[in-house]
Amino acid sequence: MPDRDLTRLTIRRPDDWHLHLRDGEMLKAVLPETTRHFARAIIMPNLVPPVVTSQQAEAYRDRIMAAVPEGDSFTPLMTLYLTESTDPEDVRAAHAAGIATAVKLYPAGATTNSASGVRDFEKVRPVLDVMAEIGMPLCVHGEVTDNEIDIFDREAVFIDKVLKPLRKKVPDLKVVMEHVTTQNAIDYVRDTHKNLAATITTHHLIINRNHILAGGIKPHFYCLPVAKREAHRVALVQAAVSGDKRFFLGTDSAPHTDPNKLQACGCAGIFTATNTMSCLAEVFAAAGRIGKLEDFASLNGPRFYGLPPNEATITLTKGDPVTYPAHITTGEGPVTVFDPGFDLHWRVTD
Ligand code: DOR
Ligand code: ZN
Repeated sequence: MPDRDLTRLTIRRPDDWHLHLRDGEMLKAVLPETTRHFARAIIMPNLVPPVVTSQQAEAYRDRIMAAVPEGDSFTPLMTLYLTESTDPEDVRAAHAAGIATAVKLYPAGATTNSASGVRDFEKVRPVLDVMAEIGMPLCVHGEVTDNEIDIFDREAVFIDKVLKPLRKKVPDLKVVMEHVTTQNAIDYVRDTHKNLAATITTHHLIINRNHILAGGIKPHFYCLPVAKREAHRVALVQAAVSGDKRFFLGTDSAPHTDPNKLQACGCAGIFTATNTMSCLAEVFAAAGRIGKLEDFASLNGPRFYGLPPNEATITLTKGDPVTYPAHITTGEGPVTVFDPGFDLHWRVTD
Protein backbone atom coordinates (compact mmCIF):
# COMPACT_ATOMS: atom_id res chain seq x y z
CA MET A 1 0.00 0.00 0.00
CA PRO A 2 1.41 3.49 -0.78
CA ASP A 3 2.54 5.23 2.37
CA ARG A 4 -0.07 7.99 2.02
CA ASP A 5 -2.96 5.50 2.33
CA LEU A 6 -1.72 3.94 5.56
CA THR A 7 -3.83 4.56 8.64
CA ARG A 8 -2.24 2.03 10.95
CA LEU A 9 1.39 1.30 11.53
CA THR A 10 3.07 -1.17 13.85
CA ILE A 11 6.75 -0.61 14.52
CA ARG A 12 9.35 -1.93 16.93
CA ARG A 13 9.19 -0.04 20.18
CA PRO A 14 11.23 3.15 19.74
CA ASP A 15 14.24 4.35 21.72
CA ASP A 16 15.27 7.91 22.46
CA TRP A 17 18.98 8.41 21.86
CA HIS A 18 19.18 11.76 23.69
CA LEU A 19 16.99 12.55 26.67
CA HIS A 20 17.09 14.84 29.72
CA LEU A 21 15.33 13.38 32.74
CA ARG A 22 16.75 15.67 35.47
CA ASP A 23 16.39 14.43 39.05
CA GLY A 24 14.10 14.46 42.10
CA GLU A 25 10.56 15.74 41.60
CA MET A 26 11.17 16.64 37.96
CA LEU A 27 12.43 13.14 37.18
CA LYS A 28 9.33 11.59 38.74
CA ALA A 29 7.04 13.76 36.63
CA VAL A 30 8.77 13.53 33.25
CA LEU A 31 9.92 9.91 33.21
CA PRO A 32 6.42 8.40 32.65
CA GLU A 33 6.05 10.62 29.59
CA THR A 34 8.97 8.73 28.05
CA THR A 35 8.38 5.20 29.38
CA ARG A 36 4.84 5.23 27.96
CA HIS A 37 6.23 4.74 24.44
CA PHE A 38 9.98 4.25 24.64
CA ALA A 39 11.93 1.17 25.71
CA ARG A 40 15.37 2.76 26.21
CA ALA A 41 16.95 6.17 26.25
CA ILE A 42 20.41 7.66 26.35
CA ILE A 43 20.30 9.75 29.51
CA MET A 44 22.05 13.10 29.52
CA PRO A 45 24.42 13.70 32.45
CA ASN A 46 24.06 17.49 32.81
CA LEU A 47 22.68 17.46 36.32
CA VAL A 48 23.92 19.93 38.93
CA PRO A 49 26.53 18.70 39.79
CA PRO A 50 27.09 16.70 36.59
CA VAL A 51 27.25 12.90 36.37
CA VAL A 52 30.99 12.50 35.87
CA THR A 53 32.06 9.22 37.46
CA SER A 54 30.97 5.64 37.11
CA GLN A 55 29.74 5.72 40.68
CA GLN A 56 27.59 8.80 40.05
CA ALA A 57 26.13 7.22 36.91
CA GLU A 58 25.22 4.06 38.80
CA ALA A 59 23.52 6.04 41.56
CA TYR A 60 21.62 8.15 39.01
CA ARG A 61 20.55 5.01 37.16
CA ASP A 62 19.16 3.63 40.43
CA ARG A 63 17.17 6.82 41.01
CA ILE A 64 15.75 6.60 37.48
CA MET A 65 14.82 2.93 37.89
CA ALA A 66 13.07 3.74 41.17
CA ALA A 67 10.92 6.29 39.32
CA VAL A 68 9.81 4.01 36.45
CA PRO A 69 6.02 3.63 36.69
CA GLU A 70 4.72 0.25 37.76
CA GLY A 71 4.08 -1.95 34.73
CA ASP A 72 6.39 -0.04 32.35
CA SER A 73 9.60 -1.58 31.20
CA PHE A 74 12.44 0.88 30.58
CA THR A 75 16.21 0.74 30.35
CA PRO A 76 18.15 3.95 30.93
CA LEU A 77 21.44 3.95 29.02
CA MET A 78 23.72 6.14 31.07
CA THR A 79 26.32 8.63 29.90
CA LEU A 80 29.30 10.13 31.68
CA TYR A 81 29.90 13.86 31.49
CA LEU A 82 33.36 14.41 30.06
CA THR A 83 35.56 16.82 32.00
CA GLU A 84 39.21 17.66 31.62
CA SER A 85 39.91 15.56 34.70
CA THR A 86 37.88 12.48 33.73
CA ASP A 87 39.86 9.33 34.49
CA PRO A 88 40.16 7.11 31.39
CA GLU A 89 40.24 4.00 33.57
CA ASP A 90 36.99 4.96 35.29
CA VAL A 91 35.39 5.27 31.86
CA ARG A 92 36.75 1.88 30.83
CA ALA A 93 35.43 0.28 34.02
CA ALA A 94 31.99 1.93 33.68
CA HIS A 95 31.69 0.59 30.14
CA ALA A 96 32.89 -2.90 31.05
CA ALA A 97 30.43 -3.10 33.94
CA GLY A 98 27.52 -2.00 31.72
CA ILE A 99 27.03 1.14 33.80
CA ALA A 100 27.76 3.68 31.06
CA THR A 101 26.87 3.33 27.39
CA ALA A 102 28.47 6.53 26.13
CA VAL A 103 30.38 9.64 27.15
CA LYS A 104 28.96 13.11 26.62
CA LEU A 105 31.08 15.99 25.40
CA TYR A 106 29.87 19.50 26.12
CA PRO A 107 32.22 22.26 25.02
CA ALA A 108 32.44 24.37 28.19
CA GLY A 109 29.65 26.92 28.32
CA ALA A 110 27.74 25.57 25.30
CA THR A 111 24.42 25.06 27.06
CA THR A 112 22.51 24.32 30.28
CA ASN A 113 24.91 23.14 33.01
CA SER A 114 27.90 22.81 30.75
CA ALA A 115 30.35 24.87 32.79
CA SER A 116 32.48 21.80 33.64
CA GLY A 117 32.76 20.80 29.99
CA VAL A 118 35.84 20.67 27.83
CA ARG A 119 37.97 23.72 26.95
CA ASP A 120 41.20 22.05 25.84
CA PHE A 121 40.57 18.95 23.75
CA GLU A 122 44.15 17.71 24.17
CA LYS A 123 43.40 17.21 27.87
CA VAL A 124 40.70 14.63 27.13
CA ARG A 125 42.70 12.79 24.48
CA PRO A 126 43.59 9.85 26.79
CA VAL A 127 39.87 9.30 27.49
CA LEU A 128 39.03 9.43 23.78
CA ASP A 129 41.79 6.95 23.01
CA VAL A 130 40.39 4.47 25.54
CA MET A 131 36.89 4.93 24.14
CA ALA A 132 38.11 4.26 20.60
CA GLU A 133 39.84 1.12 21.87
CA ILE A 134 36.74 -0.26 23.61
CA GLY A 135 34.17 0.94 21.04
CA MET A 136 32.36 3.33 23.37
CA PRO A 137 30.56 6.16 21.55
CA LEU A 138 31.13 9.85 22.23
CA CYS A 139 27.94 11.93 22.15
CA VAL A 140 28.84 15.44 21.06
CA HIS A 141 27.11 18.73 21.64
CA GLY A 142 28.44 20.23 18.44
CA GLU A 143 28.60 23.96 18.96
CA VAL A 144 31.55 26.27 19.51
CA THR A 145 31.15 28.62 22.41
CA ASP A 146 33.25 31.61 21.31
CA ASN A 147 31.28 34.79 21.83
CA GLU A 148 32.47 36.22 18.54
CA ILE A 149 30.86 33.37 16.58
CA ASP A 150 27.26 34.07 15.64
CA ILE A 151 24.90 31.71 17.44
CA PHE A 152 23.39 30.55 14.14
CA ASP A 153 26.87 29.57 12.86
CA ARG A 154 28.12 27.73 15.91
CA GLU A 155 27.33 24.22 14.70
CA ALA A 156 28.88 24.70 11.25
CA VAL A 157 32.02 26.24 12.78
CA PHE A 158 32.26 23.41 15.32
CA ILE A 159 32.31 20.83 12.53
CA ASP A 160 35.22 22.54 10.76
CA LYS A 161 37.21 23.77 13.74
CA VAL A 162 36.69 20.99 16.31
CA LEU A 163 35.04 17.86 14.99
CA LYS A 164 37.01 17.29 11.80
CA PRO A 165 40.42 17.72 13.51
CA LEU A 166 39.30 15.58 16.45
CA ARG A 167 38.09 12.76 14.21
CA LYS A 168 41.35 12.91 12.29
CA LYS A 169 43.30 12.42 15.52
CA VAL A 170 41.07 9.61 16.82
CA PRO A 171 39.53 8.05 13.67
CA ASP A 172 38.40 4.89 15.46
CA LEU A 173 36.25 6.81 17.91
CA LYS A 174 32.52 6.35 17.34
CA VAL A 175 30.90 9.79 17.37
CA VAL A 176 27.26 10.80 17.54
CA MET A 177 26.69 14.40 16.52
CA GLU A 178 23.71 15.20 18.61
CA HIS A 179 20.66 17.27 17.74
CA VAL A 180 21.97 18.38 14.37
CA THR A 181 20.31 21.52 13.03
CA THR A 182 22.06 22.33 9.77
CA GLN A 183 22.49 21.14 6.20
CA ASN A 184 26.24 21.37 6.98
CA ALA A 185 25.96 18.66 9.63
CA ILE A 186 23.80 16.46 7.41
CA ASP A 187 26.33 16.78 4.58
CA TYR A 188 29.24 16.02 6.89
CA VAL A 189 27.58 12.85 8.18
CA ARG A 190 26.57 11.77 4.67
CA ASP A 191 30.12 12.26 3.39
CA THR A 192 31.60 10.16 6.19
CA HIS A 193 31.33 6.44 6.00
CA LYS A 194 32.62 5.22 9.30
CA ASN A 195 32.09 5.85 12.99
CA LEU A 196 29.84 8.87 12.59
CA ALA A 197 26.10 9.25 13.03
CA ALA A 198 23.71 12.02 14.03
CA THR A 199 20.60 12.34 16.10
CA ILE A 200 17.78 14.64 15.08
CA THR A 201 15.21 16.00 17.52
CA THR A 202 11.47 16.08 17.06
CA HIS A 203 11.26 19.85 17.32
CA HIS A 204 14.04 20.59 14.83
CA LEU A 205 12.03 18.65 12.25
CA ILE A 206 9.14 21.04 12.84
CA ILE A 207 10.33 24.54 13.74
CA ASN A 208 12.67 27.01 12.11
CA ARG A 209 14.00 30.25 13.55
CA ASN A 210 10.92 32.20 12.49
CA HIS A 211 8.88 30.14 14.91
CA ILE A 212 11.02 31.52 17.72
CA LEU A 213 11.27 35.13 16.65
CA ALA A 214 8.65 36.23 14.10
CA GLY A 215 5.52 37.90 15.46
CA GLY A 216 6.79 37.96 19.06
CA ILE A 217 9.39 35.96 20.97
CA LYS A 218 8.33 32.37 21.82
CA PRO A 219 10.44 31.07 24.69
CA HIS A 220 8.93 27.59 24.40
CA PHE A 221 10.62 27.21 21.00
CA TYR A 222 14.02 28.24 22.33
CA CYS A 223 16.56 25.47 22.66
CA LEU A 224 20.21 24.80 21.87
CA PRO A 225 21.35 24.40 19.24
CA VAL A 226 18.88 27.10 18.25
CA ALA A 227 16.62 26.24 15.27
CA LYS A 228 18.02 27.54 11.99
CA ARG A 229 16.45 28.84 8.77
CA GLU A 230 13.83 26.83 6.84
CA ALA A 231 16.25 25.34 4.30
CA HIS A 232 18.10 23.63 7.16
CA ARG A 233 14.89 22.25 8.63
CA VAL A 234 14.00 20.80 5.23
CA ALA A 235 17.44 19.14 5.05
CA LEU A 236 16.85 17.57 8.48
CA VAL A 237 13.47 16.18 7.39
CA GLN A 238 15.00 14.74 4.22
CA ALA A 239 17.71 13.02 6.24
CA ALA A 240 15.28 11.68 8.85
CA VAL A 241 12.80 10.23 6.35
CA SER A 242 15.50 8.88 4.03
CA GLY A 243 16.02 5.69 5.99
CA ASP A 244 19.79 6.40 5.97
CA LYS A 245 21.14 4.36 8.87
CA ARG A 246 23.33 7.19 10.14
CA PHE A 247 20.36 9.31 11.24
CA PHE A 248 18.18 8.47 14.21
CA LEU A 249 15.91 9.95 16.85
CA GLY A 250 17.27 11.75 19.89
CA THR A 251 14.45 13.95 21.14
CA ASP A 252 16.57 16.15 23.43
CA SER A 253 13.34 16.49 25.38
CA ALA A 254 14.56 18.95 28.01
CA PRO A 255 12.09 20.00 30.70
CA HIS A 256 12.32 23.38 32.37
CA THR A 257 9.49 24.83 34.46
CA ASP A 258 7.50 27.64 32.91
CA PRO A 259 8.89 30.25 35.33
CA ASN A 260 12.40 29.23 34.26
CA LYS A 261 11.50 29.49 30.58
CA LEU A 262 9.43 32.66 30.79
CA GLN A 263 11.83 35.22 32.15
CA ALA A 264 14.25 37.87 30.92
CA CYS A 265 16.95 35.22 30.51
CA GLY A 266 14.98 32.04 29.85
CA CYS A 267 16.40 28.51 29.83
CA ALA A 268 17.06 26.60 26.61
CA GLY A 269 15.09 23.40 26.17
CA ILE A 270 11.89 22.05 24.62
CA PHE A 271 9.84 19.34 26.29
CA THR A 272 8.63 16.88 23.65
CA ALA A 273 8.47 13.54 25.47
CA THR A 274 4.67 13.59 25.72
CA ASN A 275 3.79 13.91 22.03
CA THR A 276 6.97 12.98 20.19
CA MET A 277 5.64 9.87 18.43
CA SER A 278 2.53 11.71 17.19
CA CYS A 279 4.65 14.63 15.99
CA LEU A 280 7.08 12.35 14.18
CA ALA A 281 4.31 10.33 12.53
CA GLU A 282 2.80 13.58 11.25
CA VAL A 283 6.16 14.74 9.83
CA PHE A 284 6.90 11.39 8.18
CA ALA A 285 3.35 11.06 6.80
CA ALA A 286 3.47 14.61 5.40
CA ALA A 287 6.67 13.62 3.56
CA GLY A 288 4.96 10.49 2.23
CA ARG A 289 7.46 8.36 4.19
CA ILE A 290 5.62 6.99 7.22
CA GLY A 291 7.13 3.61 6.30
CA LYS A 292 10.56 4.96 7.31
CA LEU A 293 9.51 5.97 10.81
CA GLU A 294 10.62 2.63 12.21
CA ASP A 295 14.12 3.02 10.77
CA PHE A 296 14.47 6.46 12.33
CA ALA A 297 12.91 5.81 15.73
CA SER A 298 13.53 2.11 16.34
CA LEU A 299 16.23 0.56 14.14
CA ASN A 300 19.05 2.93 13.18
CA GLY A 301 19.92 3.92 16.74
CA PRO A 302 20.43 0.43 18.16
CA ARG A 303 22.37 -0.50 15.05
CA PHE A 304 24.90 2.30 15.60
CA TYR A 305 25.16 1.55 19.31
CA GLY A 306 25.59 -2.18 18.63
CA LEU A 307 22.43 -3.15 20.50
CA PRO A 308 19.54 -5.32 19.32
CA PRO A 309 16.32 -3.54 18.33
CA ASN A 310 13.45 -3.94 20.78
CA GLU A 311 11.28 -7.03 20.47
CA ALA A 312 8.13 -5.25 21.65
CA THR A 313 6.14 -3.06 19.29
CA ILE A 314 3.87 -0.02 19.34
CA THR A 315 1.00 0.70 16.98
CA LEU A 316 0.17 4.14 15.65
CA THR A 317 -3.31 4.78 14.29
CA LYS A 318 -4.47 7.75 12.23
CA GLY A 319 -7.74 9.43 13.16
CA ASP A 320 -9.27 12.59 14.58
CA PRO A 321 -6.84 15.16 16.00
CA VAL A 322 -5.12 13.94 19.14
CA THR A 323 -5.29 16.14 22.20
CA TYR A 324 -2.39 16.55 24.57
CA PRO A 325 -2.14 18.50 27.79
CA ALA A 326 -0.66 21.96 27.25
CA HIS A 327 1.62 21.29 30.19
CA ILE A 328 2.43 18.58 32.69
CA THR A 329 2.43 19.18 36.42
CA THR A 330 5.65 18.54 38.32
CA GLY A 331 6.66 19.01 41.93
CA GLU A 332 8.78 21.92 40.75
CA GLY A 333 6.09 23.67 38.69
CA PRO A 334 4.37 23.30 35.31
CA VAL A 335 6.35 22.20 32.24
CA THR A 336 4.91 23.20 28.87
CA VAL A 337 4.55 20.43 26.28
CA PHE A 338 5.83 21.21 22.78
CA ASP A 339 3.11 22.63 20.54
CA PRO A 340 3.91 21.75 16.92
CA GLY A 341 1.42 24.34 15.64
CA PHE A 342 -0.64 21.88 13.61
CA ASP A 343 -3.07 19.08 14.34
CA LEU A 344 -1.65 15.66 15.12
CA HIS A 345 -3.67 12.77 13.73
CA TRP A 346 -1.55 9.79 14.73
CA ARG A 347 -1.92 8.37 18.20
CA VAL A 348 -0.12 5.49 19.84
CA THR A 349 -2.93 3.00 20.38
CA ASP A 350 -1.06 0.01 21.71
O1 DOR B 1 18.01 23.20 24.60
C1 DOR B 1 18.77 22.50 25.27
N1 DOR B 1 18.46 22.13 26.54
N2 DOR B 1 19.92 22.11 24.75
C2 DOR B 1 20.84 21.46 25.46
O2 DOR B 1 21.85 21.15 24.91
C3 DOR B 1 20.63 21.20 26.90
C4 DOR B 1 19.22 21.15 27.22
C5 DOR B 1 18.94 21.20 28.71
O3 DOR B 1 19.61 20.51 29.46
O4 DOR B 1 18.03 21.93 29.10
ZN1 ZN C 1 20.35 17.79 25.23
